[in-house]
Amino acid sequence: MDLEGRDIISIRELTREEIDWILKTADSMEPIAKKGSDMLKGKILATLFFEPSTRTKLSFETAMLKLGGETIGFAEPEAASIKKGESLADTIRVIQNYSDVIVLRHPLEGAARFAAEYAEIPIINAGSGSEEHPTQALLDLYTIRREKGGIDGLNIALVGDLRYGRTVHSLAYALSLYNVKLYLVSPSLLRMRREVIEDIKGKIEVIEGLGLEEVIPDVDVLYVTRIQKERFPDLSEYAKVKGSYMINLDVLKGAKDDMIILHPLPRVDEVAVEVDSTPYAKYFKQVWYGVIVRMAILALILGAVK
Ligand code: NCD
Repeated sequence: MDLEGRDIISIRELTREEIDWILKTADSMEPIAKKGSDMLKGKILATLFFEPSTRTKLSFETAMLKLGGETIGFAEPEAASIKKGESLADTIRVIQNYSDVIVLRHPLEGAARFAAEYAEIPIINAGSGSEEHPTQALLDLYTIRREKGGIDGLNIALVGDLRYGRTVHSLAYALSLYNVKLYLVSPSLLRMRREVIEDIKGKIEVIEGLGLEEVIPDVDVLYVTRIQKERFPDLSEYAKVKGSYMINLDVLKGAKDDMIILHPLPRVDEVAVEVDSTPYAKYFKQVWYGVIVRMAILALILGAVK
């Protein structure tokens, strides 16, 4: 297997073997993350963020620095030449002269794929509209595997905004490569897009339409997401679903003792702060796993690990 030079645009372009290999490589990155390394010395990562981000940008940058590489980039496109009317294609053709790999986040679906067509260096999709966020899915899988000892055989619920949330699309595709039962829990306005459901339904058992309280006693992993207010074409629609789910100690009463709660973060009000101190809460650990998974991705794509 060789991931050197590969783009990561959609999780669907990775096989289960490749995903498992990335996750295994992440295991080997943990000791390196603690003491640092010069594995990617001389390499430059460019982060181009056309949308807000805290975790994804900083976690890629942290991963690169821990491997001895350097980072450049922008998070305020208003301050870059984009403001002067530069096209995405031109921006990519310029930035690839400065860097060895580009991490791109963009509000438009298809933006990462478009960029990859112009780039001669690898492009990593760090979120393309409400379409996909493949590296988030990899770190979600890694968290499940670390915290539950494996992925096969688990019952997993995706909760919240399954329509506009991109992390749930990538995660659903990824989970369909494993032997899991998937519950989709959302207000009907925010149901997962049909094309994703059609794609995964033939591969795994998918259960839609149940309420949170019916699902909680059966699940091993509760993956909670924020309602993506900024992606609603009409804010009166948002008002109808705002605050639909609130995971608090009361809701968790029927949960299995070893159930885990994940969240891609940022959280707004869907997981109460009182849950943070329970053994269920793994969302801050998930952030650390994100660093080692992104170290693995960068090391593999840049050919430092074969
Ligand atoms: C997510 C995203 O940007 O899609 N954040 C992240 O990368 N961890 C989730 C979100 O914004 O709700």
